[in-house]
Amino acid sequence: MLSVPEIANIKKIKSIAVLTSGGDAPGMNAAIRAVVRYGLAAGIQIHGIVKGYSGLLEGHIEPLDGTSVANIIQRGGTILKTDRCEAFFQKSTRREAANILRRNNIGGLVVIGGDGSFTGAHLLENETGFPTIGVPGTIDNDIAGTDDTIGFDTAINTALNAIDNIRDTASSHDRIFLVEVMGRSSGFIGLQVAIGGGAETVIVPERKETIPAICKTIDKGMKRGKSSSIIVVSEGKKAGLTTSLAKELERHGYSSRVCILGHTQRGGSPSAHDRMLASVLGASAVAYLLAGKSNAMVGVREASVVMVPFKKVIGNKKDLPAPSLRLASILSS
Ligand code: F6P
Repeated sequence: MLSVPEIANIKKIKSIAVLTSGGDAPGMNAAIRAVVRYGLAAGIQIHGIVKGYSGLLEGHIEPLDGTSVANIIQRGGTILKTDRCEAFFQKSTRREAANILRRNNIGGLVVIGGDGSFTGAHLLENETGFPTIGVPGTIDNDIAGTDDTIGFDTAINTALNAIDNIRDTASSHDRIFLVEVMGRSSGFIGLQVAIGGGAETVIVPERKETIPAICKTIDKGMKRGKSSSIIVVSEGKKAGLTTSLAKELERHGYSSRVCILGHTQRGGSPSAHDRMLASVLGASAVAYLLAGKSNAMVGVREASVVMVPFKKVIGNKKDLPAPSLRLASILSS
C-alpha cells in the first residue's frame, strides 16, 4: 500500500497554501483534503487559493480548517476551482505572487496540476526563493518522473464504461465506431482504454498509423467473423483528428460512427485508486515541505512515493511503454 514517507519535520513553516491549476481531474478534492488535514495535524495553518495562479494574483486566499474539506473526498472537480493562467508566464507577475504569499505569512505553496502548472511553481521558486511543491493531478498521466497521476484511473474507468455501452450498439448494427479519448499529445489514456475495452485498434500520437493499416485491421477482424469494430483514437494536439479519420475511412469504403468522449472523462466521482493516490500524495507534499524540501514534485515510482526535482519533470516526455502497445495489438487480433 502506498504510504507517506516518514521524514523529520525540520522547517519552521507556520502556514502553507494550496491551489489547483490547469485542467481539473477527479481526485483533486481528495488531495486538497489531505493537504489540509495532514497540515493541521502537523500544527500548521492551511490556506486555499481560489482559481489557481489567477486567484493568487488577485489575493483570493482563504483559511481552510478541517470542516471546510469535509464531504469532498468523493467529489469530482476541485472545490478550489482552477484555471490556465497566461499572466503567470511573466517574471514580474511571479514576483508579485511571491510578495502576496509572503504578505499573507505563507511559507510554502502546494500546486496540484500538470506540467504547465509545475513550470509556474518552478520559476516562482527559482526567481523568488519561495518554496513550492507539486502534486501531479491530470487525467492524461503524461508527467515525467511519476508512474501515475491523480485522475487518470477515474478517466480510464469513465471511458471504459462508455466503450462498453458503445460496444452494445456497435454489435447490434454491425458498425465501426471511432471513439475519441482525451490525452492531448500523449496516448496513455488511449492505450489503457484500448486494452481494457478490447478495442480492435488504437491510434496514439506516439505511433504513426496509416489508413491502409487501419483498413487491414478491420478486414482481418471481419474475416474472423467480427461484424463490428471499436477503434480508440487519442485526440492528439490538433482538434478534428477523429472526424477526418472517419472521412478517410469512408473514402476507402468503410462507414463508421464517431463518438467523442471529451470532458465526460474529466468529471465524476474519483475511483478508489485515485482517492488513495491523492490522499497519500497530498499528505506527502506537506511532509516534504515541512522537511525543508521543495522545488520538486511528489510522485510514484514502483509503488513508492518519491520526490523528483521540477527540473527533471518539466518539459520531459514520458514514453508510452512499448510492451503495452504490443499487448494491445496482440490481444485485439
Ligand atoms: O490536460 C487535461 C485535458 O483534459 C487534456 O486531455 C485535453 O486535451 C485538455 O485538458 C482540454 O483542455 P480544456 O478543458 O481547457 O479544453
